[in-house]
Amino acid sequence: MNTVTTATLRKYKEERRKIVMVTAYDYPSAKLVSEAGVDLILVGDSLGMTVLGYDSTLPVTMEDMLHHTKAVVRGASGALVVADMPFLSYQVSVETALLNAGRLLQEAGAKAVKLEGGSEVLPAVRKIVAAGIPVIGHLGFTPQSVNRIGGAYFQGKTAAKARRLIEDAIRLEDAGISALVLELVPFEVADLITQKLRIPTIGIGSGSACDGQVLVFHDLLGFGGDVRFKHNKLYANVGEVIKNAVRDYAEEVRKEIFPTELHTIRLDPVEYEKLLANLNKLPFNR
Ligand code: KIV
Repeated sequence: MNTVTTATLRKYKEERRKIVMVTAYDYPSAKLVSEAGVDLILVGDSLGMTVLGYDSTLPVTMEDMLHHTKAVVRGASGALVVADMPFLSYQVSVETALLNAGRLLQEAGAKAVKLEGGSEVLPAVRKIVAAGIPVIGHLGFTPQSVNRIGGAYFQGKTAAKARRLIEDAIRLEDAGISALVLELVPFEVADLITQKLRIPTIGIGSGSACDGQVLVFHDLLGFGGDVRFKHNKLYANVGEVIKNAVRDYAEEVRKEIFPTELHTIRLDPVEYEKLLANLNKLPFNR
């Protein structure tokens, strides 16, 4: 498979070829989604919920992101690996934003970073891009601001709010981002942004007009959690497959069906005889 770069993404937009992005958080999931032929792998800070069991992305640290990105990079082939910048890793100063973005490339091997927000993050975006690091923007519902927003709600639902989103999208493009994630944005607004930008938009819960789509690995596979988001499509129910397999294993162990001779390695009979003959010479009283 060819290696996807940020130039590839621009080309795909020009050719009207849809871009496929999915999250992954470890070596096996990165390997599987690469083999399935996705264009982009996002090491999302959604790992806070999907693999670490937090109730939001806020507790996720740079160390968490570095640890998981390293594993994903080891499993990924062909796809462009994008690492999320976690909460407070880019908001404090442009210098810390650049240092943290740089760590995700230098230490973990990501090829791009993603950060959330509009006008307020433009200085950080410019600084990171100027250092040669591709940045992916993220507008609409931005999970790191869940406490200000009040929940995972659709954004840009009035003309004035939609206009602000469009302005932010254009400003982010002018600041140098390579692609823009649009999360929970009404179809019409995502469509307008997609038409106005030269860089690709990648939607999640934002309709089919976007240049590409992203879904969370665990959501599309039914792997953990009971949450059925309206925007998600369940392509498989891996959670049930795993539960049934582990139930079968437990039952077979308890009923002494597993292991069988097939799963057993035996000692050479001559060695066994020798062992038994010498057992009474053991320096223990058993
Ligand atoms: O962290 C994540 O998984 C994301 C996607 C929802 C776009 O940011």
